[in-house]
Amino acid sequence: MVSNNQTLDKVYTAQNHTELMDAYKDWAGDYDNDTVGRFGYVAHIASAEALDKALDRKDACILDAGCGTGLVGEELVKMGYSTMDALDYSKEMLDEAERKQIYRNHIQADLSHPLEMQDNSYDAVVCTGTFTYGHVKANAFDELIRITKPGGFICFTIREGAYEDYGYRQHMIELEQQNAWELTGMYETDYLKNEGVTCKMCTYKVLV
Ligand SMILES: C[S@@+](CC[C@H](N)C(=O)[O-])C[C@H]1O[C@@H](n2cnc3c(N)ncnc32)[C@H](O)[C@@H]1O
Repeated sequence: MVSNNQTLDKVYTAQNHTELMDAYKDWAGDYDNDTVGRFGYVAHIASAEALDKALDRKDACILDAGCGTGLVGEELVKMGYSTMDALDYSKEMLDEAERKQIYRNHIQADLSHPLEMQDNSYDAVVCTGTFTYGHVKANAFDELIRITKPGGFICFTIREGAYEDYGYRQHMIELEQQNAWELTGMYETDYLKNEGVTCKMCTYKVLV
């Protein structure tokens, strides 16, 4: 496979879900080296830190939604969390995450559709790198809220540029107006450091 910025282009310019999953299929084995090593990906660290700041119990039950190869989970393990489920639509990315043996369950599911999970299943959900160009749309927030317990937290990144253009901002505000969640933290932070790309790191407390 091609381990340079063409990889990123392929992921960000995918025209449909099949193309996106093909891009991740090709990338899964090299994802960690490319993102962290070459592009200076640091969003997984920022996400784990944001979640850790919100949570007051290390035994919290956490869903890593759009887990990819498990970079966020690895950071959470270092912080002492151990009850984590992994969810991703790409089987190859999920397989890489499973190899790390840090998650309790490995769930292949599409975040853009209703999830086969009960209401209030998790104390927290972390979703890093999936609210971005051509990936998961803003309506996924509704399902993340549904599966999170009232009083629980949802931490996620939104890649710069996509925040306004992809309707994330608008839906985040709508959900606040509906008292579905309340914002507890949002700041700009590095995403792909070596590429000069930033993201918004958002933390919401679930109310319903
Ligand atoms: C940029 S990677 C981020 C992975 C990981 N969270 C990290 O921080 O390294 C985005 C992930 O979102 C997954 N993804 C994209 N669209 C998805 C969808 N509709 N449902 C579930 N996962 C999806 C991809 O397969 C990929 O693993």
